[in-house]
Amino acid sequence: MMQIRKAVFPVGGLGTRFLPATKAIPKEMLPVVDKPLIQYAVEEAYAAGIREMVFVTGRNKRAIEDHFDTAYELEAELEAAGKHALLDLVNSIKPDDMDCVYVRQPKALGLGHAVLCAERLVGDEPFAVLLADDLMLGRDQSRGGPTVLQQMVQAYASHPGTILAVQDVPREDTRRYGVVDVKGVSAPVAEVFAMVEKPRPEVAPSTLAVAGRYILTPAVFERIRQQPRGAGGEIQLTDGIASLIGSERVYAFRYDGRRYDCGSKEGFLEATIDLALANPELSASVRAHMVKALA
Ligand code: UTP
Repeated sequence: MMQIRKAVFPVGGLGTRFLPATKAIPKEMLPVVDKPLIQYAVEEAYAAGIREMVFVTGRNKRAIEDHFDTAYELEAELEAAGKHALLDLVNSIKPDDMDCVYVRQPKALGLGHAVLCAERLVGDEPFAVLLADDLMLGRDQSRGGPTVLQQMVQAYASHPGTILAVQDVPREDTRRYGVVDVKGVSAPVAEVFAMVEKPRPEVAPSTLAVAGRYILTPAVFERIRQQPRGAGGEIQLTDGIASLIGSERVYAFRYDGRRYDCGSKEGFLEATIDLALANPELSASVRAHMVKALA
């Protein structure tokens, strides 16, 4: 069994639901409290032991590259001003043993296409995919417990193969997700025998929806390359994974934690409120404000 050493972050989407904020910056740079979404995802991957981060960028790649690059001027000024805590904070964004590489997705042709753009950088080994607009918090993560991807890497050790993070959603919401059909729904890891992208509630095979965390095998690249365009005219990752079922093991993994759909305004605001309330410096004033605002 091979170790998961690389993580792919597809950040080439257009983020139209967040216009005008996403006109000049990718939605993954939007901050929840004080940290951009992409940094939460990179930290999650790092905690899972991954050290090579592959970003599949679109037309707005600058902000993400700069975020994970050295900022000499800023660092020199913080140093000169004796602001060591802030300097440490800035330096911790990219630990020394972490590598960031970038590849461009020339056109936003869909998530499957974005993953395919990372093929040469990933090579012939299993890898993780994290969609940073899904902000995932492991249940006990703030007390040192495992992140969602960490839980998945642990599951991979006993179930090598493709692993999809899944959660139960209300039936009326299936049209927003990839949905899986599994054998044995009670265990955290269950084998997938069917998968469809954005099914209508009446035809959805279950209410187990795929969240934005995957462990994939390199076989998926060839499948994506061969598949026709899927739902919405996009090259779907779901179709590539679905075509692997039967020839390779594909598992659904019920993670222990919470997902915020930060690609939508509601999810983004929920994440902001929850993380502000969990922040010792902010919770009292945010709570007081909410009481006032709701009165
Ligand atoms: P979404 O379906 O949320 O699309 O993509 P979007 O374009 O980013 O956002 P909206 O719907 O216009 O507001 C899911 C994930 O796949 C990436 C996105 O960056 C996001 O992380 N993606 C999507 C790509 O990298 N490339 C694509 O061509 C499409």
